Amino acid sequence: MTIDTNPLIGNYETLDLKNVARRQNVRSGGTKDKDSNGMGLVDNKVAFISGVARGQGRSHAVRLAEEGADIIGFDICANDDAVEYPLATQDDLDETTKLIEKFGRRALLSVADVRDHEAVKRVVDDGVAELGRLDIVLANAGVMAITGQQRLQREAFLAGIDIMLTGVFNTVMPAIPHLRAGGRGGSIVITSSTAGLVGGLGDGSPGVLGYTASKHAVVGLMRAWANVLAPENIRVNTVHPTGVNSPMIANEAFGRYVQEFPTIAQNLQNPLPVPNGLLEPQDVTDSIMHLISDAGRYITGTTYVMDAGFTNNR
Ligand SMILES: NC(=O)c1ccc[n+]([C@@H]2O[C@H](COP(=O)([O-])OP(=O)(O)OC[C@H]3O[C@@H](n4cnc5c(N)ncnc54)[C@H](O)[C@@H]3O)[C@@H](O)[C@H]2O)c1
Repeated sequence: MTIDTNPLIGNYETLDLKNVARRQNVRSGGTKDKDSNGMGLVDNKVAFISGVARGQGRSHAVRLAEEGADIIGFDICANDDAVEYPLATQDDLDETTKLIEKFGRRALLSVADVRDHEAVKRVVDDGVAELGRLDIVLANAGVMAITGQQRLQREAFLAGIDIMLTGVFNTVMPAIPHLRAGGRGGSIVITSSTAGLVGGLGDGSPGVLGYTASKHAVVGLMRAWANVLAPENIRVNTVHPTGVNSPMIANEAFGRYVQEFPTIAQNLQNPLPVPNGLLEPQDVTDSIMHLISDAGRYITGTTYVMDAGFTNNR
């Protein structure tokens, strides 16, 4: 075999072909990606996830467990006056625990409100004390206070900002010292939205403004953290999904809203054909697995879209 030692393009003999194959598997989006030694993509790592009881948070938690990680997580498990549809329940959280444990991984899941900095800090501190390390943070909790009469109130704006901007700060800040303490690097992914890149969502109500402003603002947090944490090999990215088939929009209130405002619905169309117009939570999980695993080891400071062409068409 010819060895290419050109310093500009490296020594191909040193390529880790097993890892290359694993990275290609991740890109192909399979649900399981054990390598030839039966190792998972995140074996024995620990992930901290907000909004873990259902929807995308549950999908990420279960897939991470399948790939070998233990999970620390929390969810509010209560409804919010500013939000017309129901939020997760204790039963949802228990179901996520069961699904994680099916893969033989630990699930330390609690009830906490992401607006409560001290409560969130306790969840992550206690979880790391029990599991011994932290590698991955997924700031995922969110609400869509864009429907019903409550969307017209100032409280709907504040709910968006408090839960999806201050809440992201509350989730990531207390986690950073644990990532640093490991000295092994790490990966933080903040779930934004296409509404974090373009302003076309909804009717300009306070609820829509809170959603759009918070989803844009977390890009600023991400960029600042990505710069500060890069020397310690801690990577930070935002993900920007188009509509996802979760209880956030697969609910009666959103259906009614779309019927009431057909031009808004028209504006939410994806250029790529997507069955029922919505991604599945698993589609977002697949992209997050790419970002947090070795496949994404040089990806930081990016706004990573999985939007079926939505933002490119604005
Ligand atoms: N569903 C979509 O179409 C869509 C599209 C783009 C981005 N997103 C974003 O994806 C993320 C996940 O949403 P999803 O689609 O899984 O919806 P979801 O409603 O199923 O999940 C959100 C979770 O966050 C929890 N939560 C809400 N307020 C909380 C609080 N104060 N403290 C702690 N937990 C709280 C909810 O109980 C719920 O379990 C959100 O940030 C959302 O804004 C969703």
